[in-house]
Amino acid sequence: MAAAAAVSILLVLIGPLIQTADAQVGVCYGRNGNNLPSEQQVVSLYQSNGIGRMRIYDPDQAALQALKGSNIELILDVPNDSLQSLATDASQWVQSNVAPFASDVNFRYISVGNEVEPSDSNAQYVLPAMQNVRTALNALNLGEIPVSTAIKFDLLGTTYPPSAGSFSSSAAPYITPIINFLNSNGAPLLANIYPYFSYVDNSQSIDINYALFTSPGTVVTDSGNGLQYQNLFDAMVDSLYAALSGVGGQNVAVVVSESGWPSDGGTAATVDNASTYIKNLINHVKGGTPRKSGGLETYLFAMFDENQKPAGVEQHFGLFNPDGTPKYQISFN
Ligand SMILES: *[C@@H]1O[C@H](CO)[C@@H](O)[C@H](O)[C@H]1NC(C)=O
Ligand SMILES: *[C@@H]1O[C@H](CO)[C@@H](O)[C@H](O)[C@H]1NC(C)=O
Repeated sequence: MAAAAAVSILLVLIGPLIQTADAQVGVCYGRNGNNLPSEQQVVSLYQSNGIGRMRIYDPDQAALQALKGSNIELILDVPNDSLQSLATDASQWVQSNVAPFASDVNFRYISVGNEVEPSDSNAQYVLPAMQNVRTALNALNLGEIPVSTAIKFDLLGTTYPPSAGSFSSSAAPYITPIINFLNSNGAPLLANIYPYFSYVDNSQSIDINYALFTSPGTVVTDSGNGLQYQNLFDAMVDSLYAALSGVGGQNVAVVVSESGWPSDGGTAATVDNASTYIKNLINHVKGGTPRKSGGLETYLFAMFDENQKPAGVEQHFGLFNPDGTPKYQISFN
């Protein structure tokens, strides 16, 4: 009895640590809402649901404070509007937003910019800002924190079949030097991957079951390498791996920094479809893709519905209602 009790006490003590280390699925904490819980309540909600990883879109001091001591692994974004300044010097930014928290907050990656379009005026600043953040972290003995950027899937010009995936001719000059930087630093590329938008843009040709992971069998056999695809998510991720290989990034890992499905506001946006997609995604990423098996680190978009985003589907990606109740039942364990 005593031994059994000791074992169960031990399990209680180490259980949360194991959960954090194994949890492959994180959740993005977007804050474009005027009705959201406090940052401290949000961190508690992550913990009570066993969500071990978070992405935030700016260095919000209250969120960083609330994360102290939580053990939650964090992707911290450099917002787009800071890119220009960080392309000149990032030491102040790192000193204000990373260094003071580094002993109590588990920084997993710094994402320098989100979904910057190659044609955007900010695009020229992304790589210099990444390099400066890298230098500033190194100078403060924070060299172990990887520096990356989060791309939009539409940087790819060819996605079908997945083995033919490649960056578009307009994106390649932008992304290739960034991939060289990631490769030489051993950092992953972050990518926002939304089968939802691909489905909506091509709903004549794509069966919704292929997008929701509910196809009963193979839908696409890749004519290039024979790999078989039962869902669109895998096909999208594998076309990104192919695109990376095409520009010398075959050793660069992919982290899915956003994926989700809206529950309202547009085509195929229902609570049932959102719940189906999210549950299946959580299970699916444990095994990786046909091209690359093993866990695929993935962040669900998003924690809450955000009522200050543009009207339509953008307001309805939340897993939770603003009062903290789940929109549908999901398990992160
Ligand atoms: C960053 O800027 C790009 C345009 O370059 C835009 O598409 C994207 O939504 C922006 N991301 C954020 C978080 O503001
Ligand atoms: C999911 O979306 C499809 C396409 O709009 C729709 O036909 C279907 O009814 C939805 N399924 C559920 C369970 O809401």
